[in-house]
Amino acid sequence: MSGSQLWDDVDFYFSSHLTPDDEALQAALRESEAAGLPHIAVSAPQGKFLQLLAEIQGARTILEIGTLGGYSTIWLARALPDDGRLVSLEYNARHAEVATRNIARAGLDRIVDVRVGPALESLPKLADENPAPFDLVFIDADKANNAHYVEWALKLTRAGSLIVVDNVVRGGRVVDSESTEPDVVGTRAAIEMISAHPRLSGTAVQTVGSKGYDGFALARVLG
Ligand code: SAH
Ligand code: DHB
Ligand code: MG
Repeated sequence: MSGSQLWDDVDFYFSSHLTPDDEALQAALRESEAAGLPHIAVSAPQGKFLQLLAEIQGARTILEIGTLGGYSTIWLARALPDDGRLVSLEYNARHAEVATRNIARAGLDRIVDVRVGPALESLPKLADENPAPFDLVFIDADKANNAHYVEWALKLTRAGSLIVVDNVVRGGRVVDSESTEPDVVGTRAAIEMISAHPRLSGTAVQTVGSKGYDGFALARVLG
């Protein structure tokens, strides 16, 4: 498939109209780049998509797993009211540091709480605090643990909450039931959990764009 120049052009066209230049978001990307973070943040149209989902959801509380430089965090936190709260979990202390600066520059540091450590250690600690149920969970960390993250998301949400999982296609490798690649195995387990779980109603949508070919899974928590 030689779509990538076309996909870039179309993403550029959409962003130029729908996600116009924004100093805080651009600075977040610039500073992430300068700090040598990998180029794997959501694209601008995807970030706006996440913001709109959170707004449609009427979210007051968001849990993000996988902060990187805080780019998706800023999009999501902008959907929240002034007294909203976003907890973002990040394994890498350097990523979290860059993110914390980017989030402060965006004026969102009162709303956003970045916690450093492996998410599977941070999640039980978070649960021990008995937080108000999260209205939206964005899962975007190590794909090998995707099913565990969906399980934790279920514990930390309520009927009506939305769970979004990034990168569920990975060039189509998700269809390979024989794969031993941890990302593929973990993502297939997440899809199968969404399919089988009585409290989840979900789908997955393939995407193309400046990030190539990939997709999101969405699941709504039922009563
Ligand atoms: N959501 C970000 C991109 C996240 S990239 C955005 O779109 O802007 C994935 C991030 O997950 C990386 O920063 C990586 O360090 C982090 N990560 C990897 N394994 C993790 C783990 N076990 N717990 C928490 N974060 C993890
Ligand atoms: C990778 C991770 C992501 O979260 C993403 O959106 C794209 C790529 C990666 O690890 O390659
Ligand atoms: Mg991602």
